[in-house]
Amino acid sequence: MFKIMNVNPFEESQECLFIGVKDTPEKFDGLLAQLDEKFENELTELVKSGDISAKSKKISYVHTFKKIGAKRLVCIGLGKEKELTFDVLKEAFGKAFKKVHANGIQSIAIALDTFFTDSISYDDVATALSEAFALSTYEFTGYKKKSNEPEKRIEEVKIISEADQEEIEAAVTVGYAYGKATNSARTLVNLPGNMLTATDLANYAEELGKKYEFEVEILEKEEMEKLGMGALLAVNQGSIEPPKMIVLKYQGKEQWEDVIALVGKGITFDTGGYSLKTKTGIVGMKTDMGGAAAVLGAMEVIGELRPEQNVVAVIPSTDNMISGSAFKPDDVITSMSGKTIEVLNTDAEGRLALADAVTYAKHHGANYIVDVATLTGGVITALGLDKTGAITNHEAFFEQVLEASHESGEFIWRLPLTENDRKRVRGSKIADLNNSPGSEGHAIMGGAFIGEFAEETPWVHLDIAGTADTKKEYDLGPAGATGVMVRTLALLVERFEPIK
Ligand code: BES
Ligand code: MN
Ligand code: ZN
Repeated sequence: MFKIMNVNPFEESQECLFIGVKDTPEKFDGLLAQLDEKFENELTELVKSGDISAKSKKISYVHTFKKIGAKRLVCIGLGKEKELTFDVLKEAFGKAFKKVHANGIQSIAIALDTFFTDSISYDDVATALSEAFALSTYEFTGYKKKSNEPEKRIEEVKIISEADQEEIEAAVTVGYAYGKATNSARTLVNLPGNMLTATDLANYAEELGKKYEFEVEILEKEEMEKLGMGALLAVNQGSIEPPKMIVLKYQGKEQWEDVIALVGKGITFDTGGYSLKTKTGIVGMKTDMGGAAAVLGAMEVIGELRPEQNVVAVIPSTDNMISGSAFKPDDVITSMSGKTIEVLNTDAEGRLALADAVTYAKHHGANYIVDVATLTGGVITALGLDKTGAITNHEAFFEQVLEASHESGEFIWRLPLTENDRKRVRGSKIADLNNSPGSEGHAIMGGAFIGEFAEETPWVHLDIAGTADTKKEYDLGPAGATGVMVRTLALLVERFEPIK
């Protein structure tokens, strides 16, 4: 797909050449000055007249009339050099790739050296463009009789740079791995509930495990019963689909120590159970395994890049259905931890499944836990559709998650967790906990409940109910599943420093 080259970008022939145009009042310098010369300084004129826009993320097409090897220039506006950030650069590339992809262009070259700035290195540019390429050209083809697969897709991206070719190659590999894995997560989330059952999810994980040599463990219902996973089993009780507890282990260190657990909610469809969702609220609940998808996506990056870290992924998976055998409000269940739970709301099922998953992660030696879940509508009320809510019991560990999110560009915002919140989830007359203490601050209640199972282990909860999918297309992807948190989790693992 990518070809890294150190040649004259204006001699190579292809359908289009990407150049970065910064908003600088002076004349072009470097490569762009050379290019301008080939056009008898017409480029400068086009920028002046606004036919080529240097404004941030503006894309201008210019035909070259065969004055250079490429048929067209795709000019990517970068705005003021000092204001350009890594995230904006990625979005700008995304926008350009989307455009050429829609136009059926198959071969692209990128004059990489026109994009770097004082704060964005050659490597950063290479990472940004390769990640943006994967993310922005992603499509979920779906099931229409008449395939909506594009007839032409981009087949080759030449990356032309004078910088060290090996370094560029390495940066491209990283960016592309992050982008591709995010797309895998998107596809899992986009799959409807009848096409992705817990068994299908387990099979997918098993394949991933084979490909990357992870240790795979898939617990069946009988094994869960033996282990006393009463919380996950309760959620599954009304279903004809068997539940799965999916575990993948990646050991990148000599010893199994400093283990990071990534725990993802894998509810393949959430009807709400007897606390039934409304006919509008139920639509879209195929995305309720977005946490599981994020964890599997992160494992794909980890499998590709093989960091020196130890990771265990734990995914509790089932659908949440209604039948004569389903669990009911008022039921009291016993979790694997031994803590009993009064079920006040069968629609607060994610925290039940995650309770046993967090306990099981500890059984696998987890020293740090991140759980990711489409857990509450409350987080949407609190933060909107573009922010992931976070809750933690450990400042220093949270700092590392936050750092990773800054680098990935995936916004997270922390919600408080107080003694009072803990009291509310412990408020049951007949059990240790209740699963739904009421609608006040209920995004916090969801986190507080899971925290009862993390106990003293450093833990961060990420509620992606608002961010796992989107109704609108954006520069780095189409409408539908976003693959949110794949990149944050993978970066957390890559950069992780054990806490003394
Ligand atoms: N899967 C839902 C949360 C959700 C809502 C995800 C909207 C995506 C979009 C979760 O299982 C749920 O039903 N949560 C309830 C909890 C309540 C009953 C305590 C909610 O948020 O309403
Ligand atoms: Mn629910
Ligand atoms: Zn749910």
